[in-house]
This record gives sequence, structure tokens and C-alpha cells, in this order.
Amino acid sequence: MTEQKIALVTGANKGIGYEIAAQLKALGMTVIIGARDEQRRAQAAQALGVESVALDVTDAGTAEKAAAWIDERFGRLDVLVNNAGVVGGRAQAPTTVDPALVREVFETNFFGVLTVTNAMLPLLKRSAGARIVNMSSGVGSIGAATAIYGELPAGAAYPPSKTALNSLTAQYAKDLRGTGILINAADPGYCATDLNNHTGFRTAAQGAAIAVKLATLDDDGPTGGFFNDDGPLPW
Ligand SMILES: NC(=O)c1ccc[n+]([C@@H]2O[C@H](COP(=O)([O-])OP(=O)(O)OC[C@H]3O[C@@H](n4cnc5c(N)ncnc54)[C@H](OP(=O)(O)O)[C@@H]3O)[C@@H](O)[C@H]2O)c1
Repeated sequence: MTEQKIALVTGANKGIGYEIAAQLKALGMTVIIGARDEQRRAQAAQALGVESVALDVTDAGTAEKAAAWIDERFGRLDVLVNNAGVVGGRAQAPTTVDPALVREVFETNFFGVLTVTNAMLPLLKRSAGARIVNMSSGVGSIGAATAIYGELPAGAAYPPSKTALNSLTAQYAKDLRGTGILINAADPGYCATDLNNHTGFRTAAQGAAIAVKLATLDDDGPTGGFFNDDGPLPW
């Protein structure tokens, strides 16, 4: 088995995920990007000089196949970054939203993380100390939603999907106690990507940094927390 750490980043053909893949590679890891769009996946993998695997996080079949491929190629996984996410458009005020939109966003941002994490767990358990990072968002913080994000329009899909993801992260940490696996949620800040039509004021590379930090925690690092560059965030 290779000593080089093996990392899988979902939704890494562009945006923050792409930058996470680049930064993990620069640390000497063997990086695999998981992406659903074949063409963008191939282009990104070539540009980054990394491995890639077909992965639609809403499709359990592709997650199982990706896990089987990683098993065959590498035999284990040391880092999983659940980065793939969708915002679901602007029309998501709770009083008027189409519930189908809420389900769609949860399918990727919440159930996708559950599906991919559980598909990869047997591989992560073979690592000496695996790290899982869930890409959350500051808007998922209930504490911050009424404070620093108070001016943002109300949303029934994206913010609650990230709140649920934060809760899931804490529950995974409880379930994984004693395994050596550390799992945390990351807030990248407001970054200019396709997700927000490039209105963010940070770069995708800046947003990637917190995920990389949480992906490379020492064994005595935190688990079940929610962090940005400045430290722990309120739930
Ligand atoms: N940008 C921000 O300001 C910001 C702030 C807080 C949190 N975040 C979070 O950071 C993460 C990355 O966002 P981003 O800003 O980099 O957005 P982005 O540029 O739109 O990238 C999103 C990535 O997720 C992928 N994806 C979406 N659904 C998928 C699925 N079902 N299976 C596999 N891949 C899928 C997309 O792939 P396709 O090319 O196939 O669509 C794309 O590669 C998200 O979880 C987002 O919620 C972003």
C-alpha cells in the first residue's frame, strides 16, 4: 500500500472543489476528483494532473462504483471532501417555495453527503486516521442567519440543507467515535464561483483553504465541529 495519502473530492471539476483538489495535490496527496459531467471531469483532471472517477452524489450506484474503483486502485481512502453542492436558484422563500425544489437541493447537499460518505466508509476505515470534510456554509448557521446574514433573503432550500448537513456532521462524529476518523463541517466564506454568478468577494482558492486545513488535521484535532478560517462557528 502506498504511503501517499489518497483523497477524494466530490464536485471538483470547478469552483472551490477544483481548488481543494489543487491544494491537496500540492501537499503531496494522490487526489481523485469525483464529478458527474464526463467532459468537465476529464478536462479538470487533465488540468490538475489528478485522477478522476464518475460520481453523481445523488446516485448511490455511481457512489458504489466509485468506491469499488478506488478500492481496486488504492485499497483505502484517507481523505473525503464532500464538496458537491447546489444552491437551487433564488426563488426559495419558505412562504412561496415549491417543495420539490427543497427536496432537490436536499438530495445533493444532504442526502448526497450521506450516500457518498457511507459508500466510502469501508475504505476510510482502512486508513490510519481518515479525515472527512463536509462543505457547509455560513448561511447554514442558525445563529448567524439572524445576525450577520440577517439581510439575505429567506431561503427554505439552501440554508436549511446546510443546517441539516451541520447536524449530520455532528451525528457522524458521535457514530465514528473511537475509529480515528475526524469529521468536520467547513464554511468557505462568500467566494466568486458559478454557484453565485461570481458575486462572491473571496476567491475559490481562499474558500478551499479551510477544507484543506480540516482534511489535514492532526490525530488530536477536533471532530464534529463547524469552522471557517477564523475558527469555530455557531450552529
Ligand atoms: N461559493 C460560495 O460562496 C460558497 C459559500 C458557502 C458554501 N459553498 C459550498 O461550497 C461547495 C462548492 O461550491 P462552489 O461555490 O464551488 O460551486 P460551483 O462552482 O457551482 O461548483 C459546484 C460543484 O458541485 C458539483 N455538483 C453539483 N451537484 C452534483 C452532483 N449531484 N454530483 C456531483 N457533483 C455535483 C458541480 O458539478 P457540475 O459541473 O456537474 O454541475 C460543481 O463541480 C458547495 O457545497 C457550496 O454549497 C460555496
